[in-house]
Amino acid sequence: MKLAGIDAALPAYTKETIADLVNAAKTIGNAAEGKKVYEQAGCIACHIPGPQQSKIGPDLSNLARGLPVDMIVTETIWPALNVKEGYEAATVTLKDGTLISGFKQTETADAIAIRDMTSGTMTTIPRCATQSIKTGGSVMPDGLTAALSTQQLAHLLRYLFELGK
Ligand code: HEC
Repeated sequence: MKLAGIDAALPAYTKETIADLVNAAKTIGNAAEGKKVYEQAGCIACHIPGPQQSKIGPDLSNLARGLPVDMIVTETIWPALNVKEGYEAATVTLKDGTLISGFKQTETADAIAIRDMTSGTMTTIPRCATQSIKTGGSVMPDGLTAALSTQQLAHLLRYLFELGK
């Protein structure tokens, strides 16, 4: 089976593509193989399963309990479409030129709070100290799965579909 566009860069974001991928995962995917793909494709760098959490990506160990399979496919293939709350990328330039980047936590008329990606430290910056604030997008790059074959992608998704089940 060859799914349209999967072996190219990013596949088209359509209901059909998602349904094909869900179907491939359920029919030809194998979770144990998918765990290996998860490690090889670099997911592990930001999503470390178990108690020793990486602070970059959210904990995926109970992923399938909280997210339906079509959403798991969407989050994996097109991460920028749906940025999880508390994980929106933000870069603040202070008036003295210092750059602070991380995940936006809250933003009010007076201040913006940012969580550092590696240490998890929160910094609240008063607006009067900022020169510019840029927010938006996901820190999870697009195209991580672009180099995978249809079979490898089916394994990876099957693994994700079973996390926490
Ligand atoms: C550079 C770090 C990084 C890498 C590498 C990465 N992710 Fe992510 N991932 C994130 C961040 C940050 C988020 C939260 C923001 C968002 O929703 O896009 C996220 C969100 C997700 C979510 C949604 C979780 C939820 O609860 O909504 C899934 C599923 C996911 N990643 C799967 C993967 C898979 C599979 C791979 C490997 C192909 C991968 N990620 C690689 C950083 C990363």
